[in-house]
Amino acid sequence: MCNNMLHLSMTHYRYHFDRMKYLDFVDTEYEPAPSDLLCEFLVETDETMEFDVAAGAVAAESSVGTWTELTTMRSYVEKLHATVYEIDGSRIKVAYPVELFEPGNMANIMSSVCGNVFGLKGLKHLKLDDIHYPEVLTESFMGPKYGIDGVRKVLKIPERPFVGTIIKPKLGLVTEDHAEVAYESWAGGCDVVKDDENLSSQSFNGFEKRLDATLKARDKAEKETGERKVYMINVTAETNEMVRRAKLVENAGGEYIMFDIITCGNSGFQTLREADLDLVLHAHRAGHGAFTLDPKHGVSMKVIARNTRLMGADQLHVGTAVGKMKEGEEEVLDNIECLTSEMHGVRTAMPVASGGLYPAVVPPLLKIFGYNVVVQAGGGVHGHPDGTYKGATAMRQAIAAVMEGITLQEYAEKHEELRKALEIWQTPT
Ligand code: 3PG
Repeated sequence: MCNNMLHLSMTHYRYHFDRMKYLDFVDTEYEPAPSDLLCEFLVETDETMEFDVAAGAVAAESSVGTWTELTTMRSYVEKLHATVYEIDGSRIKVAYPVELFEPGNMANIMSSVCGNVFGLKGLKHLKLDDIHYPEVLTESFMGPKYGIDGVRKVLKIPERPFVGTIIKPKLGLVTEDHAEVAYESWAGGCDVVKDDENLSSQSFNGFEKRLDATLKARDKAEKETGERKVYMINVTAETNEMVRRAKLVENAGGEYIMFDIITCGNSGFQTLREADLDLVLHAHRAGHGAFTLDPKHGVSMKVIARNTRLMGADQLHVGTAVGKMKEGEEEVLDNIECLTSEMHGVRTAMPVASGGLYPAVVPPLLKIFGYNVVVQAGGGVHGHPDGTYKGATAMRQAIAAVMEGITLQEYAEKHEELRKALEIWQTPT
């Protein structure tokens, strides 16, 4: 009995002690400095931790704090502590002094705000929902080299949405067939042809041979159509190899490369961007769902979008709202905002809609995105009953109809490719 009482009072003492420690990091009177990095987290605790303690724990463990008092603490270190400056339901806002971070080092910043804190006992769920960089940090990253205006100049398309396709089947085609499908896509009306996210340099379709064959196909299509055509070859690989492949593309006369931002990682991408090649950088977000989809836990797509733009991607997949990807309109609009809103002078990045698109969904898609978008359809081009060429034409016709203010049905009366696409793939209800 006596021992139990002692145990209880010790537990209470320790709890109280820790509670005060973490609560030191909460100050709702604090006004963030212009140089602070601001993060918004969604926090859910289990029964062992009170909410305000958890809020303080997030700020503490992602800055200078830990679970106990430290004999090594100095007053100059205390000045670097993060502060919870707003609590609104489960949403907390945290301000971080900029001195906590190494400029231009995204891995370092994420190791703090997306680091150990995600495994903290007492936090049932934690989501980094948004991030806002101060000017001093934004300036330390390269940002997009081209941005929306720049990629429009590369493609010589001043206003219209870009029409793109992804070579399908996503894996398995040998190089000659890959190049042939690319040619058909461009000749039929696509501006952009892209590799799929998991094509790199497999035995059946090696990188160098594919680059050569597909750029030849591009040249042929450009000559025949009189239009600019671009190939986004996937350079995703180990970082040095990725940079080597990107240089091969530049030397071969390519204008674009694509890479997988999640699986290559921030540092891999920063190295690629810092090579500063004359190539538009297209970021695929394959794997993002492992972090973004749980509404309560992980990292939001908004954070991935802001970071990817800041590090220097010219284009990024942001969801479709009307296709096969999970996000709804509101989330897609948020992602678009992260790529296009003012960010201390950083160039904008072009939103990419990709995943389950086909001609019938083009009108609602453009209503959401506007015209600054790459509309990419894989199955929606290569699944056309008359093949890739006509599938590309049908997508281009759907875009033309919207730009002319005509319904797809009306446009299809004089355009057989679109009519056939509308017959097999109807507008979702
Ligand atoms: C992508 O890269 O986004 C997907 O491969 C899209 O393919 P889909 O248009 O066939 O859904």
